[in-house]
Amino acid sequence: MDYKRLVAERIKENVDLELDLIEKLIEIPPKSDMGDYAFPCFQLSKTLRKAPNMIAQELKEKINNKGFEKIENLGPYLNFFVDKASFTKDIIEKVLAQGEKYGSSEIGKGKNITIDYSSPNIAKPFHVGHLFTTAIGNAIYKMMSFQGYKCIGINHLGDWGTQFGKLISAYKRWCNEEALEKDPINELLRIYVKFHDEAEKDPSLEDEGRMYFKRLEDGYEEETELWQRFKDLSLKEFKRVYDMLNVEFDSYAGESFYNDKMDAVIEEIDKKGLLVDSNGAKVVMLDEYNMPPCIIKKADGATIYATRDLAAATYRKKTYDFYKSIYVVGVDQSLHFKQLFTTLKLMGHEWANDCKHIAFGLVRFADKKLSTRKGDVIFLEDLLNESIDKTLEVINEKNPNLENKEEVAKKIGIGAVVFTYLKNNREKDIIFDWKEILSFDGETGPYVQYSYARGKSILRKAGAIEGNADYSKLNSKEEFELAKTLEGFNKSILYAIDKLEPYVVTRYVISVAKDFNKFYNAHNIMNTEDEATKIARLKLVEATCQVIKNALGLLGIGVVEKM
Ligand code: ARG
Repeated sequence: MDYKRLVAERIKENVDLELDLIEKLIEIPPKSDMGDYAFPCFQLSKTLRKAPNMIAQELKEKINNKGFEKIENLGPYLNFFVDKASFTKDIIEKVLAQGEKYGSSEIGKGKNITIDYSSPNIAKPFHVGHLFTTAIGNAIYKMMSFQGYKCIGINHLGDWGTQFGKLISAYKRWCNEEALEKDPINELLRIYVKFHDEAEKDPSLEDEGRMYFKRLEDGYEEETELWQRFKDLSLKEFKRVYDMLNVEFDSYAGESFYNDKMDAVIEEIDKKGLLVDSNGAKVVMLDEYNMPPCIIKKADGATIYATRDLAAATYRKKTYDFYKSIYVVGVDQSLHFKQLFTTLKLMGHEWANDCKHIAFGLVRFADKKLSTRKGDVIFLEDLLNESIDKTLEVINEKNPNLENKEEVAKKIGIGAVVFTYLKNNREKDIIFDWKEILSFDGETGPYVQYSYARGKSILRKAGAIEGNADYSKLNSKEEFELAKTLEGFNKSILYAIDKLEPYVVTRYVISVAKDFNKFYNAHNIMNTEDEATKIARLKLVEATCQVIKNALGLLGIGVVEKM
C-alpha cells in the first residue's frame, strides 16, 4: 500500500485541490512523534480564507481515518500516524513478493543513457584513483538500469595520442621483453619515464616520438602491431581488476576508435564558421564564455583529446540517441568538459544540454604504509589484495572454521573498499584508513554485510518457515522504524539517480543495517512466545536481508551468507 497516496486521497475527499498537488505537499515530519506524514494547510488558507491552524483542526474532525492509527492536528499541520502493524505487514509482503526486483521501477523505460566511466589509459597503471570513476559509474549504471533505463557502459580507453609514438620509440630503444611479458604496466611505465628523462638531454627524441605517432596514425604495420600489443597487454591487466570488482562494459570504444571520425567533426565545425586559426593551430574561441579556446588541431596538424571527445559525443548521440550522456571523470577535467559541451552547443547541438560531467574527489591515505610496487602510484589491484588479506586475518582470528574463507574474504575485502568510495558525496576526498574501512561496527561495508549474514543465520536456525504470520503484534518502535526504512528504498534510489550520487544508496543501506540491529537487539526473535508472531518477525528478517542484498548489489557489492 502506498500510504502517502492514501493520505492524499483522504485529504482530497475533503478539499478542492488536485490529488497530485496534495501528494506533493505532503511532508515527512522530522520526528516520529509528529506522525509519519504531515499535510501543511498553508496553501488551502489562501482559497478558503481561513487561518491554516483552523483548517487543520476542521479537517481533523471531518477526515476518514481508516487505515491510520490516528490523525492529529498540530498548528497548521495535519499529522497522520499510520497503523503500524498493517504498514509493516504491507511492506514485508511487498518485499518478499518482489524479491530481487524490490526497489525497481519502470520510470526510465525507453530512455537510453550512455555512461562513460573507468576509462584508464593504456600502458599506465590502473591506480587507486580509478576506482572512483569505476565504482561510481558502475553504481549509476546499476541504479538506472534498475529503474528501467537502458544504460550503455562505455570504457573510453586512453589508447591514442602522441604518447604512443614516444612509447614505440622507447620500446625500440630500451624495452626488456621478459619484463614486458611478466609485468607489462611497470615495464611500459619504466621505459616511458626513461624516454622523458633521456629526451631532456636529447630533444631529438621528441621528434622521433612524433614521427612514430605519425606512422601509427597513417596505419603503418609495425607501429600498429606494437600499439595493439601494448593495448592487449594493458587490457589483460585491467580486466583482472574488472573481474575482481565484477564490473563490465558494453563498449570498449576508446580514443583510437574515433581516429577515422574526427575529420567529419572538424569539417562540421569549420562549416559552422567556428574554426579559427591561432598561431598555426585550429581552435574554437570560447572567450565569450570565459574559457580558453578549445583546441581542435595543434600547429603540427595533430588532433588531441578534446577532438576525440567531440567525435565521441557526436558518435554516441548518433548511435545511441541518448537521453542523458554521463561522463564520470575527475574534477581536474572540469574545464575540458565545459569546453567540450560549449563547443557542441555552438555547433548547434541542443543535446549538449543532456551531457553531464560527474566529478569526484581525490584519494589520500591516512596511513601511508601501504605496500606499493614502485614509485608513488598505488595500484588498485594491490589495494584490493591488501584488503582481502587483512580481512582474511580477521576471519582467521574470529572464525577460523568458516567454510570458503578465501571467497568470503574476497567479497568482504573488496566490498569494504568499494563501500568506502561510495560512502560520501563524490566530490569529497577520501582519507583512506584501514582501521576504519574494515571495522565491523561503524558505517562500513563489513558492518552492513555482517548484518546481512546475521539475518541469514537467524533464518537458517529457524529452518523452513511454515504456518501463518500474525503481523498484528509487529507494532513496536523498532519493528515499525525498520519497516519504514525498508519502504523508502525506491525513493532513495530515485534521489540518488536525480543527484547522480550513489552515496545516497550507501547511506540508505547503512540505515537499514542500523535499524535491523536495533530490532534484533530489542526482540529475541527465536524466543518469541507465540508462533505466528515469531513467523512474522522472521519474515521481517527475510525482507530486510532481501533489501540489503538488493541495495548492495546496486553498489556493485556482493553479500556472504556466513561470516
Ligand atoms: N582516459 C582519461 C583519463 O584517464 C579519462 C577519459 C574520460 N572520458 C572521456 N570521454 N574523456 O584521464
